[in-house]
Amino acid sequence: MMSVKAVFVLTSVLAVVWAQELTTTQMQAIMNHHKECKAETNIDDGLASGVLAGNFPDDPVLKQHLFCMSKRLGIQNDSGEIQKDAVKEKIGKFITDEAKIEELTNSCSVEKSSPEDTALELTKCIYQGTHP
Ligand SMILES: *[C@@H]1O[C@H](CO)[C@@H](O)[C@H](O)[C@H]1NC(C)=O
Repeated sequence: MMSVKAVFVLTSVLAVVWAQELTTTQMQAIMNHHKECKAETNIDDGLASGVLAGNFPDDPVLKQHLFCMSKRLGIQNDSGEIQKDAVKEKIGKFITDEAKIEELTNSCSVEKSSPEDTALELTKCIYQGTHP
């Protein structure tokens, strides 16, 4: 069970990082996915909120959590394969330059040796490409 304080901290961080790009509804959907995934992975709150600050350590629990998030967001399917159209759509929520969206979608959509590794690299790549 996530403490009230942790939820508050995580929500605040999210709000700061994404306030300008995402609507409240989109943010709530992400928080919801996070909660559902946390029920599966029991990820540490610090590890999870680190992502919002751009920290993507090579951690098995983090990878599992990100794969869970990816599936819920539709950017990877159950077998772990990247769904490019969905990736493009998500990137489009952060940036408007069509050429840049296309370029980022292609450079980030790279399958790694496992669905979990793919999830980590994909999320990191999207984050870095949209948070200069
Ligand atoms: C996952 O996506 C790939 C490519 O888009 C597709 O070939 C595969 O059948 C999909 N697998 C599942 C379980 O949906």
